[in-house]
Amino acid sequence: MKILFFPITILVSLIFASNVQARWKPTQGMTWNYILGVNPKDFDLESETAQVLGIGYTNTAETVKKYHNAGKKVICYLSVGTIADYDPDRKDYEAVTGLVKTRYEQWPSERWVDFRKEGIKPLIIKRMKTAVSIGCDGIEPDNLGGYSHNEVKSWSNPITKEDTIEYAKWLSKTAHDLNIAIGLKNVLGIIESVGSYFDFAINESCTVWNECHRYKNFMSTGKAVFGVTYGDVSSWKSSLCKNLEGVPISMIVKKSVNLYQERTIFDVGYYCGTKTTTKKTTTTKTTKTTKTTKTKTSSSTSLPSSYVSFKFKGILDYTTNYYLGVQELKEYAAFNIYDLNGGQSYKYRTWHLTSESSPSFMYLSTGEFGAVGKPSQYCLDLGTYKNSEGYNYLSIVNCSKAKYKFKYGSSYSKTIDVYTKDGNHYTDSSGNKLCLYYSMTPRISKCKSPDSKQNMGWSKYKM
Ligand SMILES: *[C@@H]1O[C@H](CO)[C@@H](O)[C@H](O)[C@H]1NC(C)=O
Ligand SMILES: *[C@@H]1O[C@H](CO)[C@@H](O)[C@H](O)[C@H]1NC(C)=O
Repeated sequence: MKILFFPITILVSLIFASNVQARWKPTQGMTWNYILGVNPKDFDLESETAQVLGIGYTNTAETVKKYHNAGKKVICYLSVGTIADYDPDRKDYEAVTGLVKTRYEQWPSERWVDFRKEGIKPLIIKRMKTAVSIGCDGIEPDNLGGYSHNEVKSWSNPITKEDTIEYAKWLSKTAHDLNIAIGLKNVLGIIESVGSYFDFAINESCTVWNECHRYKNFMSTGKAVFGVTYGDVSSWKSSLCKNLEGVPISMIVKKSVNLYQERTIFDVGYYCGTKTTTKKTTTTKTTKTTKTTKTKTSSSTSLPSSYVSFKFKGILDYTTNYYLGVQELKEYAAFNIYDLNGGQSYKYRTWHLTSESSPSFMYLSTGEFGAVGKPSQYCLDLGTYKNSEGYNYLSIVNCSKAKYKFKYGSSYSKTIDVYTKDGNHYTDSSGNKLCLYYSMTPRISKCKSPDSKQNMGWSKYKM
């Protein structure tokens, strides 16, 4: 199985070499953080679990590389409808006749631009190229919504919605020609006309207006929406639960509009609970049903009531992002794990353990795309399929049938060691301790000290 890994590595390097890497397409449910207000040197990358980061396009390539190495995708902010006093290219904007217009009242350091002037195009292309050159995976073009602001309406020949649609299409084509993803920032008024041109969307405060549902059509095509709500989780919780029902926006709640690192990833499964039919039954039936409801509850008490949550990333190669996990909540006789960067971002890859210090069953999380979630009834186990050396591939089974437990870092600091149900280290017939091993298809093998050239090692991330 080790050999299996090789062709993949080679393929990946070929793709990089010939520069035909596909444009990034964020998947629904990816977690994100919006950190425009953070100086990269103050950003605590170690503790950041979000998969996507929103930063400014004037950041350095080193910063973006650091985020990439940590497995993040990067969306770079740039204004396409205003020019700020502090922008490095302000003089170039001012040199285009009629381009720089009225002040933006809410953000007085910025002025609206009349993007219908042809002269803006090379300037925007230059900004986009900067974003591409520092390695951004996507861009977030802001301030497209001038047409609905009074400072723009006051012009003698104001920008219209139709002008904005035309410009948005040009932005999308230009970004795609540069092979970078582009998101629609706010301006919901034009989403029905231009949604298909954009790879994702970013929105602030849709909860405030109870309008998150306006992303429904856009999302039904599989595209991701990254949302931010300003305030605190406890006061927004019920509104968020209502707004996000059936509209799986990747939502964060931030205390400050200054966009510091602090945020809460709003995991709907966790905060809003999943609807259970048991609940419905109790409301419609009489007291007689109480007993049945109770029995139902006790059968699901096989799930741990207290647990610690982790994800495990393979350490085999710096450029890849293999996480232990599967896509669906179901039984698997064996399963493959995928490189997150290869677009195979699978949904379920976090785990819940009842203990960090002693062997535990590993419960697959209900959370998607690295969100914490809750333990499900599916557990990691050793399957019946074996490789030629007689080592089992991993499987996913109903936890009530799981026969093996796991513990991180017993043999070596980065191995996941296998134990029997009663807590003894699992060994092969020669007495070798066994650990989780991976290539595409994870299995077990003799525990040995892991390094980036072997397949035993896993980094643990506490959630
Ligand atoms: C975000 O979307 C909502 C509708 O869902 C819209 O009302 C709101 O204006 C958008 N946010 C911004 C800052 O434009
Ligand atoms: C797992 O097994 C238990 C006990 O047999 C059963 O009650 C439960 O429904 C099963 N869960 C799933 C998801 O199949």
